[in-house]
Amino acid sequence: MYFRATRILYMVQREQIEVEILGLRERLSYHNHKYYVENSPEISDFEFDTMMRQLIDLEAAHPEFYDPLSPSVRVGSDRTSEFVSVEHRYPMLSLSNTYSTEELLNFIERIEREQGQTEFVCELKFDGTAISLTYEQGRLARAVTRGDGTMGDDVTANVKTIRSIPLTLSGSGYPELFEIRGEIFMPYSSFERLNIEREAAGESLFANPRNAAAGTLKQQQSAVVAKRGLDCTLYQMAGDNLPFKSHLENLNAARSWGFKVSEHMQLCHSAKEVIDYITYWDEARKSLPYPTDGVVIKVNDFAVRRQLGFTAKSPRWAVAYKFKAESALTRLISVDFQVGRTGAITPVANLEPVLLAGTTVKRASLHNAEQIAALDIRIGDKVYVEKGGEIIPKITDVELSERTADCLPFTYITHCPECGAKLVRVEGEAKHYCPNQSGCRPQIVGRIVHFISRKAMNIDGLGVETVELLFDNGLLRDISDLYTLKAADIAVLPRLGEKSADNIISSINNSKSVPFARVLFGLGIRFVGETTAKYLAAHFKSIDAVMGASREELMESDEVGDKIADAIIDYFADPVNLNIIEFLKASGLQFEAEATRRDSNILEGKNIVVSGKFTLHSRDELKALIEKNGGKNQSGVNANTDFIIAGENMGPAKLQKAEKLGIQILSESDFVEIIKGNTTIEEHQQTKNVEKVIQTTLF
Ligand code: IVH
Repeated sequence: MYFRATRILYMVQREQIEVEILGLRERLSYHNHKYYVENSPEISDFEFDTMMRQLIDLEAAHPEFYDPLSPSVRVGSDRTSEFVSVEHRYPMLSLSNTYSTEELLNFIERIEREQGQTEFVCELKFDGTAISLTYEQGRLARAVTRGDGTMGDDVTANVKTIRSIPLTLSGSGYPELFEIRGEIFMPYSSFERLNIEREAAGESLFANPRNAAAGTLKQQQSAVVAKRGLDCTLYQMAGDNLPFKSHLENLNAARSWGFKVSEHMQLCHSAKEVIDYITYWDEARKSLPYPTDGVVIKVNDFAVRRQLGFTAKSPRWAVAYKFKAESALTRLISVDFQVGRTGAITPVANLEPVLLAGTTVKRASLHNAEQIAALDIRIGDKVYVEKGGEIIPKITDVELSERTADCLPFTYITHCPECGAKLVRVEGEAKHYCPNQSGCRPQIVGRIVHFISRKAMNIDGLGVETVELLFDNGLLRDISDLYTLKAADIAVLPRLGEKSADNIISSINNSKSVPFARVLFGLGIRFVGETTAKYLAAHFKSIDAVMGASREELMESDEVGDKIADAIIDYFADPVNLNIIEFLKASGLQFEAEATRRDSNILEGKNIVVSGKFTLHSRDELKALIEKNGGKNQSGVNANTDFIIAGENMGPAKLQKAEKLGIQILSESDFVEIIKGNTTIEEHQQTKNVEKVIQTTLF
């Protein structure tokens, strides 16, 4: 009797807990949607966080009520996850692009001629990274990146932390199984915050929000993704049984199920309306809080889309009109001259702050003396600034009509602004150099920062500021001093304590096992980048062999021409450098190459070029895979090239050359299949011209 009573009590409690958990999940989902999708929160952040804490605690105490789609997954996890490559049910195509209104008008005219009066939907082109979400029975089942269009990475764990993506759908009428595609992007506010944090931590900065979004999505810890403030807009549905027969109706339905669908889509009935939309947004986008790079124009009606069909790469029923890079006009206040680690001088413009592509710009690159002279840039001029792929924007032109009499030409410096040494300019090179390598502070600090960087010795915990601090306190004069540093010396410095000092020392000790190629790269020999260092290490096998090589012998290594060979000889001719190397050797760093382990000889004798952007691997990973399977990496296409692994945006010059020479082009997943031994290069050659069948259920 007693046992029955306690059992009933226990069951009642359990039920209460379950009800409580389910209630919290429902309320959190509702408020999450209000905040992140509708931008109209009903409760304070504090109330939301308290509720979330309650849920997390209850779930931890009652793992029997675990649900992989609980709102608590939004905080992510510290576990490292690998990305499994999966095939898209419907291929993820790209769009044909144009910068010209004339081409756009041709696109519209052609469709109207073939199909009669047509409805077009104009949308903003979000500048991030594409994602495909699969929902089964109203629950998020999978999130996959575009990859090469056929195969992508399963990034579900990361995507679950993006709060504007519904984990479970609300409303009704959604198909049992469907895919919805969109863009994961980083709003400017998140981007700026992230770069400020990275700068403070001495980490490399993201060049633009697009790279930051793509890089974040590939993070191995979802807890990191959760903190970075990604967002997602959905713009395309795919499925066999979508509820409506037009794009706009389906997306409006998707909005009612909880998806974030852009409010700026517009139905247009004529070319004029399309052009008006573009003209409006080319200006208005400057005040949007997220990056856009164009307008996508799509046929609305699915029956018309079906008639138009696809080319091998993109639908015939849509086109992307790309905006020209945004530029801003502002005043040049002064010019600073920066000294890099190689002694190269870079003139940097100080500008009147101006808003450009969502961020405030105060500095811009002026490249070199020649460019300043060519543009006839004067202090006080109104200049145009543009953002390219780099972090620092550049000055592209001068607005001569705004030049006043007090705008004065300025003379290029003749002496180093840091150490006063007379600058030199090497024949045929645009840049000036400070020759005082061993006495000029930014060069010394720059070399140390390069040495400890991730791709070289990967010494954590030391950023530019700490290196400067150690240098200014006489604790670091060159890279060899790193190996005599003591935790006690570091711990007393401002902003550093015992814990960070210990971390730095253990990271320095770990660097002793970094492979020779990276040590060689870390030395900072002029023009010896990461790839050249790898070739040198593979070719010569030890530092002694590199040091002992003649100019001609050096040039026998791949990638080494006369310029690089001369730089290597110069480096080893300097007794200061020889001393440093002796000391590093004695400290236990790796100065001999390990024998590289081969996975297979599948690529034996093949010369391969890797070009473009990839999703399943980084470019370096692909290059390593080539070497591990017996192949050779080439940097440029030539008659000896056997094939090219091409990613997104492969260099047009390479593509043209490859076409001219009839060189086989493979996708990343083709390549993976080859090294797995599932197909052969020859088989690919045979299927080269067979067009893939594109499923017509892709809208
Ligand atoms: S539609 C089959 N709509 O631009 C066409 N794409 O090259 C599916 N993008 O990969 C894409 N905003 O990552 C579409 N409103 C929008 C878009 C958009 C951005 C991206 C997307 C796609 C690329 C086109």
